[in-house]
Amino acid sequence: MPTQRKRCTSMLELDQVAEPDVGVTKRDHPDLPDGGVPGDTSSAIASVQTLMEVVSKAASTSKVVVVSNREPVIHELTARGIKAVRPASGLVTGLEPIVRAVHGTWVAHGSGPADRHVVDNHDRVGVPSEHPEYVLRRVWLTRREEDGYYYGLSNNALWPLSHIAYTRPVFCRDDWEQYEAVNEKFCDAVLDEVGEDRAMVFIQDYHLGLLPRMLKNRRPDLTIAQFWHIPWPNREAFRIFPWAEELLDGLLGNDLLGFHVQYHCNNFLDTVDRGIEAKVDYEHFRVFRGGHPTTVRPFPISVDFHQIEHDSDASGVACRLKELQAEFAQTPLKQQFIVGVDRIDYTKGILERLRGFDLLLQRHPELKGHVTFLNFSAPSRTHVEAYRELNDKIDDLVDDINWRHQTEQWVPVQFLRAHHDYSTVLAAYRLADVLMVTSLHDGMNLVAKEFVASRSDELGSLILSRYTGAARELKDALLVNPYDTDGLADRLNQALTMPESDRIQRMQRLRQVVAQGDIYHWGTRIFQEVLQLHRGGE
Ligand code: G6P
Repeated sequence: MPTQRKRCTSMLELDQVAEPDVGVTKRDHPDLPDGGVPGDTSSAIASVQTLMEVVSKAASTSKVVVVSNREPVIHELTARGIKAVRPASGLVTGLEPIVRAVHGTWVAHGSGPADRHVVDNHDRVGVPSEHPEYVLRRVWLTRREEDGYYYGLSNNALWPLSHIAYTRPVFCRDDWEQYEAVNEKFCDAVLDEVGEDRAMVFIQDYHLGLLPRMLKNRRPDLTIAQFWHIPWPNREAFRIFPWAEELLDGLLGNDLLGFHVQYHCNNFLDTVDRGIEAKVDYEHFRVFRGGHPTTVRPFPISVDFHQIEHDSDASGVACRLKELQAEFAQTPLKQQFIVGVDRIDYTKGILERLRGFDLLLQRHPELKGHVTFLNFSAPSRTHVEAYRELNDKIDDLVDDINWRHQTEQWVPVQFLRAHHDYSTVLAAYRLADVLMVTSLHDGMNLVAKEFVASRSDELGSLILSRYTGAARELKDALLVNPYDTDGLADRLNQALTMPESDRIQRMQRLRQVVAQGDIYHWGTRIFQEVLQLHRGGE
């Protein structure tokens, strides 16, 4: 394993839509290694080295196998050949740098139209293709499996159940059966990758809630950890889930189970306490089921601060920024840009954000022609009815706002629905006078942290929903309740009129926080915990 991190310029060659879904600060967590300061590359290398040291101790003779539903790279056919595209996923944004650093194997659903063209006989492909740093092992699903396990149980049941966004979950037994079957399929693929070796299996998210128990039953010697990237609801919300016992039992196959924040750990322990036969040790945040302990801990996820900073300063992003400025500066008047970047998801508060902007224009007609709202929006899960309805509502609202406020030279809202590439997303961050993150409920929200990492110019204001995990750390953002339209309009006005010195100071402090708690600290803390578990078991 290399001891030094490579600068991966190849990231810019991938098409990426960053969903942008934390790091912890040294101040809050004195056990963390020093994370460094913005612009200091040596501290970035140090944080990768610390991760590598901890991983090699934790994994000593074992492999690291990461498992998720969403794959880090999707292969698509284009007129110019096969293209690698990075999907819009907070999970991928957070995890990819770690898997590169540890040279692990990543097992994931092969969902791209050209995915089968690039794999070998074992369904494996090296990533990135020019200089492979890790192996991607693809799992193929039938349409029926994808429908039941991904669209159905994962995104029409567990997703709305876990997010308090007032969208009702839909439960269907056939979806549950597909979920079980697909988790078994992943289990086979993981065991195939592990072979006879010792291994640490690091499972991601709500799609694979049964996998830990399946793996533990077949290979008790494996070290199994899982990170749940979305909120865990309180036990009153969770109790309506028809397969609660099975899911909890599945998750308690883990040795370590991580959430973004302590509150979600508390919710999980309460849910287990009331929902299944198990002994809950509140003092050490551990659950014993059939004598097997599962340790539950908060690990706030983050981004690769220095990589994003470096990529944002690249000439390609500067060119893209000029193009965006030329395209959207509609009048010769001085322009400010309010920007949103998300998957089109009802948890992201896109309608609420638009209503806030609408009210701002009603209250401050003098802003007309001077402020434009650009939302860079990646289509997502459009086979699910709630997502189709959301798209329709967004179109209606955008149309209405533009109809009421537009002038001959100026259209107030541009809703840019597309899979925007990585350079465009970084250029959009750089274009933003104000970036709006208005999630109704979000485990973390990495868009907020990506934005901060990209602003080495120390400009730009961040409006951030209180209901994101990120709000617990990014205290110098302008915090909002996205349901409060008046409050949103006030915050927007504050952000647009803030003295530059204030804006710079806030951004400097935000950047310090994200630089100190980058993705490598997240990984280091998880592997340190695994190490502790090993020591405890000796
Ligand atoms: C959230 C989830 C991820 C998921 C991402 C994108 O961030 O926690 O697991 O990958 O949304 O959603 P998708 O359904 O496209 O993978």
